[in-house]
Amino acid sequence: MKVLLVGSGAREHALAWKLRQSKLVDDLLIWPGSATMDVLGARLPMGLDAGMADVARLARNMDVDFVVVGPEQPLADGFADACAELKLPCFGPVAAAAQLESSKAFAKDVMQAAGIPTAAFAVVQGEAACRKKAEEYLARSGGAVIKASGLASGKGVFVCQSQSDIDEGLKRLYQSGMAKAAETVVIEEVLVGRECSFFVFLGAGEPTALGFAVDHKRLKDGDEGPNTGGMGCYTPVPWLPADAGDTVMQRVVRPLLAELKKRGLSYTGCLYVGLMWSDKGPAVVEFNVRLGDPEAEVLALHDQRDWAELIAAKVGLIPDNKEFEAAAAQNAGASVCVVLASPCYPYGEGTPQRFEVPREVFQNSSHDNQVFAAAVREEQGRLMTGRGRLLTFVSHGKDFVEARRHAYAHIKKIAAHWHGVQYRHDIGAGLVEG
Ligand code: AMP
Ligand code: GLY
Repeated sequence: MKVLLVGSGAREHALAWKLRQSKLVDDLLIWPGSATMDVLGARLPMGLDAGMADVARLARNMDVDFVVVGPEQPLADGFADACAELKLPCFGPVAAAAQLESSKAFAKDVMQAAGIPTAAFAVVQGEAACRKKAEEYLARSGGAVIKASGLASGKGVFVCQSQSDIDEGLKRLYQSGMAKAAETVVIEEVLVGRECSFFVFLGAGEPTALGFAVDHKRLKDGDEGPNTGGMGCYTPVPWLPADAGDTVMQRVVRPLLAELKKRGLSYTGCLYVGLMWSDKGPAVVEFNVRLGDPEAEVLALHDQRDWAELIAAKVGLIPDNKEFEAAAAQNAGASVCVVLASPCYPYGEGTPQRFEVPREVFQNSSHDNQVFAAAVREEQGRLMTGRGRLLTFVSHGKDFVEARRHAYAHIKKIAAHWHGVQYRHDIGAGLVEG
């Protein structure tokens, strides 16, 4: 089959690597792609500023069998809708369903209607109303979470335990270029528990669970510093109950699908369920309509199944195969990934600093150790980083001790030469101590 992958980040680099291993995929096209993905597939000859409909039409004309969309923005912008018009199978939901991510207010409304466990909330508009509601939650329960309703790359959420946290959050929200995403704001109570995420492929046939991962969203060790898009993660999640997957399917995924159906919406694509797990079980923190970044990287390495087959079944091109599920049980050992981010991440403050990525970083990869790149460009034959999250180092081992040892040995070789580069030292550390 011929597949088009949409995106250019480390998540899409991992997806390209994963799709490439499938016996189903003869030809991989990528748009917009990146310098580090060129060895995995040809770039679609279309500029960055191309419209969704133009890209879909070109894919159709080039006999693409199905499209896999990595990031949320093209989905929010209607990429899947453009594909549907052309009868081009697309793994990624239509814009109306993608609101589960692009509008936190919509997601909360759906959760409430479906009876899905989630934090109590209020939807407000404007800085004054936002401040008032956040202060009310703080006074009542000792905390408040302020969330831009729109897309903000994981940077529009502020968990506040004090008045000064609220002041700082509001300043970021209304004065740091997030005004559009923050036109509507969701204020929530603070959930307590341990955080993890659940991933499931949805579409034709039964849902296919990929499993759980834990992301480390704060910038600094010990969960300090601002929220980011994710600084590293691990899978599986040994501290969850054995039936956690079934619980999330029953309490979250199935009621969600039923509620979407009531609203006339169907969902094809990966659903990302962000959870807070307490002794009462799971409560939903957020939905995303895609794989996580860096969760995709760790899951792609850890999961032995052929994702192209799973996806082809979900978009209705091949029948659902029960052997897929059986193969999941073979996923043994543990996997960890660690993200290397530029000195100015996440707010882009300070002088942008760029580094040269030695090509050996990618060439020395093995099935148990991979490096996936975001924001890396080729300039006069050299691979240069941009700013933001730069590289994701993923390792698999027989247990977390081994996986961590491999990932950190790998990352240190690069980090030692890149002044000011940021990464967390404690990804998965809690699992191997004591
Ligand atoms: P979100 O983008 O909604 O996932 O929020 C980003 C991060 O903020 C989450 O991963 C949590 O760590 C934290 N967070 C969001 N909502 C809540 C909540 N209601 N209670 C506690 N922490 C939260
Ligand atoms: N790693 C968090 C996310 O992809 O949203």
